[in-house]
Amino acid sequence: MPTIHHGLEGIAVAETVLSSVDGERGELIIAGYPVEELAPNASFEQVIYLLWNDRLPDDADLEAFRGELAAQREIPPATLDLLRSAAAARMETMDALRMAAGTLDLGIGAIAGDDDALGAMIVARFATIVAAYWRLKRGEEPVSPRADLDHAANMLYMLTGREPSAASARALETYLNTVVDHGLNASTFTARVITSTGSDLTSAIVGAVGALKGPLHGGAPGPALDMVFEIGDVARAEEYLRAKIERGERLMGFGHRVYKVRDPRADVLGAATERLRSAGGDPEGVYELARGVERIALELLEEYKPGRRLQTNVEFYTALLLHLLEIPTELFTPTFAAGRVAGWVAHCREQRRRNRIIRPQSVYVGERGRRWEVEVG
Ligand SMILES: CC(C)(COP(=O)(O)OP(=O)(O)OC[C@H]1O[C@@H](n2cnc3c(N)ncnc32)[C@H](O)[C@@H]1OP(=O)(O)O)[C@@H](O)C(=O)NCCC(=O)NCCS
Repeated sequence: MPTIHHGLEGIAVAETVLSSVDGERGELIIAGYPVEELAPNASFEQVIYLLWNDRLPDDADLEAFRGELAAQREIPPATLDLLRSAAAARMETMDALRMAAGTLDLGIGAIAGDDDALGAMIVARFATIVAAYWRLKRGEEPVSPRADLDHAANMLYMLTGREPSAASARALETYLNTVVDHGLNASTFTARVITSTGSDLTSAIVGAVGALKGPLHGGAPGPALDMVFEIGDVARAEEYLRAKIERGERLMGFGHRVYKVRDPRADVLGAATERLRSAGGDPEGVYELARGVERIALELLEEYKPGRRLQTNVEFYTALLLHLLEIPTELFTPTFAAGRVAGWVAHCREQRRRNRIIRPQSVYVGERGRRWEVEVG
């Protein structure tokens, strides 16, 4: 009888050149670059190009790729109509994104079957869908994309209707770069499974959105921030956090299944948040409050759970950074999707290049020997 690996934990099922996650060393490498170096310095366009081509673009490549993405930002009228209906029905943003993503190859004409062009279109339009849906849900009209802005700056522009400061655009760009790929997580695996059957890119991406939507994957950056706001004042943090731990509750934004030392993405986003604050992006002083809460939480986790190596996770700083960018809690997972979609596309292309259908086994543990009784008469 084959051994069962519940959750496939520890089982390698693909070779990849896209990213390497080392939880013991607290290391994330994206296409050869440590995330700490790549994410705060590269543009999102550069990172996508890197993932899709295994090299950074030269100036001419970058210009062409930027133009290609910018030209694909408008969503088809039918997609917009669907978003209007979803907004009227008050659907969750991830559900709207899933439905809208499935319509993206409407009218693709010449690029049908061209995974490179289709991938660029999907990445370009994810940001438009998220921003348009958010505005529609609040009773506002979507803001048309601007081709002269970079991807991240344009996403903020479409959300708010205002051209963002360079510091805000840089902060979102750093976020998108940080979350663009992370080994064979559940949504990426889903995309690869779908691709492995010979199915199309859009189907793989829709499946990945569905996997990401689940709370065990999409995470819960919202509650980490809610906790910080509920505490409200660093002076109250210890009493609040102690009571929470003693009730057996978990502190949101701390601990990680894979990273048993500090999550490198938390560091990158922490530094990005600090830079945004220094550029005047935190008028309410949320950063100071969150840092204070973090410090006390880490002390208490060490006191109550010694040796468990519980560190601040990516959700904590995601929540803080996106909040400072005025991105509401409801958009945290969709914004994550707007970054990760470039990684999904990269994995689909990689899977297609060296494909073998992903077809694991199951072990039957049900009844045997049941007999179908034929009624007589
Ligand atoms: C992410 C998470 C599920 C990882 O879980 P895990 O690797 O299975 O960790 P374990 O369940 O083995 O935890 C080890 C110990 O630390 C405790 N612990 C783990 N995370 C904790 C947290 N955030 N707050 C308080 N205690 C925590 C567990 O209760 C356990 O204690 P015990 O040994 O006395 O039973 C867990 O850390 C968690 O629930 N974190 C909070 C939610 C969160 O931020 N989620 C987003 C993750 S990206």
